[in-house]
Amino acid sequence: MSRPVRIALIPGDGVGGEVMAEAAPCLDWAAVRGRCLEAVPLPYGAEHYLATGETLPEHAFTALRDGCDAVLFGAVGDPRIPDGRHAEQILLRLRQGLELTVNFRPCRPLLPGFQAGLDLEIFRENTEGPYCLQGTTEPGRAVDFAIHTEPAVRRLLETAFQRAAERGRPLLLAHKANVLKHGHGLWLRVFEDLRPQFPGVATRTMHADALLCALVQEPKGFAIIAADNYLGDLISDLTAAYLGGMGMAPSLSWAPHRPFRCAALAEPVHGSAPDIAGQGLANPVGMFLSLALLFGHLGWEPEATALEAAVGGALQTGFRTRDLGGTHSTTEMGQAVRSRLGR
Ligand code: NAD
Ligand code: IPM
Ligand code: MN
Repeated sequence: MSRPVRIALIPGDGVGGEVMAEAAPCLDWAAVRGRCLEAVPLPYGAEHYLATGETLPEHAFTALRDGCDAVLFGAVGDPRIPDGRHAEQILLRLRQGLELTVNFRPCRPLLPGFQAGLDLEIFRENTEGPYCLQGTTEPGRAVDFAIHTEPAVRRLLETAFQRAAERGRPLLLAHKANVLKHGHGLWLRVFEDLRPQFPGVATRTMHADALLCALVQEPKGFAIIAADNYLGDLISDLTAAYLGGMGMAPSLSWAPHRPFRCAALAEPVHGSAPDIAGQGLANPVGMFLSLALLFGHLGWEPEATALEAAVGGALQTGFRTRDLGGTHSTTEMGQAVRSRLGR
């Protein structure tokens, strides 16, 4: 018998725990359907840090890297830790330490009658740019460096090109090379270098500022968008609005070069939402859809399709958390989705 797929569960902070509590039972459902898996709950987050001083200890990182196959992540961020140190040492450590270069953030609206037919896919580089967290604060002066390396840029762009080729859709590179001449200059060069390998893919580059205006005015004019870590973060929050808001947007990160056993991380696009945490107001849809992306990544297509369909079914029946203008609680929404999973 093959060994179980081990999935680490890190709920994190704020609404992270609430949406994790709704999505995690879907792993039991997948197991009942015959998927050989093991969930590995991990406590890392603000509460654990404040109690123990540990963010993500090195032994835990190593155990996860070498002993798990994927991570399902809630969110991190806590007002009691205003410098976000634990978030860096947990979430950014995982993204960077596991070399999860590709962050995939699809935008396919599911709310009936809202942005129907829109089909956008953002490929965000997930480990570099200003997220290298190198810089200094001095009296009267502050510096943040941004690092872009050719292997990571190439991996991200190759993945986006492959997707565009598979789906027969155009690929757009968002950049600000008019200002960030070095870093984004590298992105433009690698993009140009890859184009001949994908002759069937229509390509375009656009300054990210102009892109954002056009994305608001005419979102259906776009298909697959590749961007660096920083721009991809901003673009994917904008496209979350087309899904109905932050609570609706999913993401999956992976290492296309698969350097470690643990080479995928699913997490909703939203944060820990301290303004609504602990009140049963969080929308779990982004989390459910992130898990569906992970199921697909593991090759469990029937489970991926069933989970996405269950979310669509709950929304079509009228289930709405407060962010969507409704009154259903997090658990009511979660139950509505799970009850539609079938066998
Ligand atoms: P946020 O995404 O937490 O919240 C932005 C807005 O969206 C808030 O009004 C919030 O109530 C709403 N929202 C978010 N998730 C929702 C959900 N599931 N259902 C309904 N409404 C939801 O972003 P923020 O306020 O800028 O950041 C709060 C904290 O989260 C910060 O510490 C930030 O660093 C952190 N953060 C973490 C992640 C992550 O872990 N991946 C992502 C973004 C922000
Ligand atoms: C996201 C978040 C994170 C990011 C923060 C919490 C570091 O906004 O996942 O989009 O900027 O990547
Ligand atoms: Mn973000």
